[in-house]
Amino acid sequence: MTYAGNEPWWKPKYWRKRTWAIVGVIIAVILIIVIVVPVEVAKANRYPNYSKLDYTLAEEYSGSTFFDNFDYFTGYDPAAGFVHYVPKEQATQLNLTYASESTAVLRVDTSVGNSSSPDASTGRFSVRVESKNQYDSGLFIFDVKHTPFGCGTWPALWLADQNNWPNNGEIDVMEAVNQATDGNQMTLHTTNGCTVSGIKRKMTGTALKNNCYNGTSDNAGCGVSGSTDSFGQDYNSVQGGIMAMEWRDQGIRMWQFGRDAIPADITAKEPDPSSWGEATADFPNTDCSIASHFRNQSIIANIDLCGQYAGSVYAQSGCPSNCTDYVANNPTAFENAYWEFGAFEIYKAT
Ligand SMILES: *[C@@H]1O[C@H](CO)[C@@H](O)[C@H](O)[C@H]1NC(C)=O
Ligand SMILES: *[C@@H]1O[C@H](CO)[C@@H](O)[C@H](O)[C@H]1NC(C)=O
Ligand SMILES: *[C@@H]1O[C@H](CO)[C@@H](O)[C@H](O)[C@H]1NC(C)=O
Ligand SMILES: *[C@@H]1O[C@H](CO)[C@@H](O)[C@H](O)[C@H]1NC(C)=O
Ligand SMILES: *[C@@H]1O[C@H](CO)[C@@H](O)[C@H](O)[C@H]1NC(C)=O
Repeated sequence: MTYAGNEPWWKPKYWRKRTWAIVGVIIAVILIIVIVVPVEVAKANRYPNYSKLDYTLAEEYSGSTFFDNFDYFTGYDPAAGFVHYVPKEQATQLNLTYASESTAVLRVDTSVGNSSSPDASTGRFSVRVESKNQYDSGLFIFDVKHTPFGCGTWPALWLADQNNWPNNGEIDVMEAVNQATDGNQMTLHTTNGCTVSGIKRKMTGTALKNNCYNGTSDNAGCGVSGSTDSFGQDYNSVQGGIMAMEWRDQGIRMWQFGRDAIPADITAKEPDPSSWGEATADFPNTDCSIASHFRNQSIIANIDLCGQYAGSVYAQSGCPSNCTDYVANNPTAFENAYWEFGAFEIYKAT
């Protein structure tokens, strides 16, 4: 091949096939960048419109009738814990649930030792209450004054439809295990098709796993952890605070407010989440249809012992002996294993 080399390179008229091919590739790359990049950026920026909703108080669980709003779950623990969940009469008799005008307490038994009859060698008495009413959306304000903690404990304040799990989803508002030194965990559990990976979220908490599907990561769910003082001893030392959970088609968001930082609109019973700033945990509907994954949920408060979660990380949590042995033989170790609640308020959008 000969090439005179005296034609101007910039005139396409003189280009050879190979040059045309290179130019074609360059144009294709530019087109891909110009089209694909904005699409990807737009995708990463998708975010629901959490516009202000007007909320009206629909229900309040409070005062000495607090526990009348709940059924006491008494079956075999679905989470394989080392507990015997007792019925209402026994819970009242053992003072495991107690409500006064201002406060409601739910605790683990601290009386049965290894010389008692019966002893706790097959599990310790505890309580799991599930609200009689079921919910499909709303704004839930939980006043939580004291969270349970201590080796072997696995407390949770959550929402689920136990008879249709995971089809109707699960929303964990407060959860921790053992000494609760990792802070509060806020988690969703669903059927397949609900994720929070690579999407825009507006929250102060730390994302844990990103797939909410119960068939992934041993049903760890998609969690967000709060600061280390959001559960346990440090949380309790300031009389706790408020957990607010907003559940609407656009997403599920949770806020934790310390006792001395409760927004005035919550105290005034006119809560407006749009005025609260960034949430602690944000689960937008970007890659998860909230409406189809979550429905018919009861509010559940319980204190499990050992089981699938506290038991499996028991040694890592710096706890002595093994979980079941410790729980069976050390009743007085559970003196901090109690929930203390103020009111639960449920608001509906109007
Ligand atoms: C039951 O528990 C509550 C809350 O801890 C306490 O104030 C009350 O004195 C207890 N009642 C009995 C009979 O022990
Ligand atoms: C709603 O949940 C309750 C409690 O799990 C269950 O008994 C009931 O069948 C559920 N209702 C529907 C319509 O799924
Ligand atoms: C997830 O849920 C399905 C029921 O839909 C159940 O069969 C399966 O055992 C669950 N997986 C885990 C790890 O809980
Ligand atoms: C727990 O420890 C006790 C006593 O050290 C032992 O007898 C028991 O087998 C242990 N249980 C498990 C599940 O490891
Ligand atoms: C009974 O419990 C005490 C602690 O409360 C413990 O020191 C003792 O070893 C236990 N006895 C048995 C047989 O496990």
